[in-house]
Amino acid sequence: MQEDPFTGHPSRIHGSHVLDPAEHAALQDNHKRRLEALARLSTAAARAGFGTDPDDDLVLFPADELSLLASAGGVWRELDEAVGVLRSFLPLCPLDLFGFPVASDDPFGEGSPRLRRIGSGVEATAFQSEDGSIYKFYLPREDGRIGGSFSFSTGNDEVAWIAEACLGSYRSLFEKLLLIMALQGMPTEVIAATPEGIIVAKQTCGARLHDGADTSALQPKALIPIPSRFLRAHRDHPRLFFLGDNTWLIADLHCRNLVTAVDGTLRAIDLLAAPLPPKVIDSDPLISGWLSRVRHDPNARLLHEGDDSEL
Ligand SMILES: Nc1ncnc2c1ncn2[C@@H]1O[C@H](COP(=O)(O)OP(=O)(O)O)[C@@H](O)[C@H]1O
Ligand SMILES: [Mg+2]
Repeated sequence: MQEDPFTGHPSRIHGSHVLDPAEHAALQDNHKRRLEALARLSTAAARAGFGTDPDDDLVLFPADELSLLASAGGVWRELDEAVGVLRSFLPLCPLDLFGFPVASDDPFGEGSPRLRRIGSGVEATAFQSEDGSIYKFYLPREDGRIGGSFSFSTGNDEVAWIAEACLGSYRSLFEKLLLIMALQGMPTEVIAATPEGIIVAKQTCGARLHDGADTSALQPKALIPIPSRFLRAHRDHPRLFFLGDNTWLIADLHCRNLVTAVDGTLRAIDLLAAPLPPKVIDSDPLISGWLSRVRHDPNARLLHEGDDSEL
């Protein structure tokens, strides 16, 4: 593995180079382990009496703050160890490591001599480095939130549930990046958190699709269309995906969030996602029955038998 030119840490991503399947799987596993480390820290923090929602304080916990308390053992030792594990998956790095002025109100506006701005959306500002790699800086928002997710509310006569985009947590941002990998999207590494709470992700560079390209027929094969009676999300291409113990709502794979990799494959670089909460899954036997069948058979019908075309 080469070193990232900014952090000096090992990095698998360089320019447009696409990973082989084993490297892709190893990188995907790294995302899973970061989420496990955050879950462990969240549990330990709750036991020691810390708030865990929002999760920005957890993510930014310095590694050596608890060493004195840890010698007392018990919950403090567990918390100290959990912080150490998370820090190994999410190092704290100052923003000026990437060439941005730290003291500025608008560091990304002023720019970095080592990074060229290539785009920005709602969640991230994207830059390209000299070797062609993409660096994304996810800015924290109000109330300790970052990135995006979905919230679910009950619908009306026409639809059981409505999903609305909302601000996310650090966990949901890390989940999004894992989902991009699980969908065979662009290789993505989480390389740092800054003391300001910015998350820095590095991604393989791809070629953009032409403006306005219709991606409805280009969605990743693993994504499952959702019956319109069950759930409506006012976003592009809402789909279902199964990963781990969760059933995910995934959307927003429009032309600005898909690129073509050097091997010619179409890859996700960004998406909007949330796990379906139990209140949705368990709300109706029709819905929970369909979900459990479609997990094994993506073509399963909403009704077990008979014609469900009117659904
Ligand atoms: N890996 C990449 N290859 C090429 N262009 C990219 C890549 N990642 C981001 N971009 C460009 O930057 C824009 C914003 O990045 P994105 O990850 O979609 O952030 P946001 O969450 O803010 O929408 C994209 O729409 C695209 O134009
Ligand atoms: Mg985007």
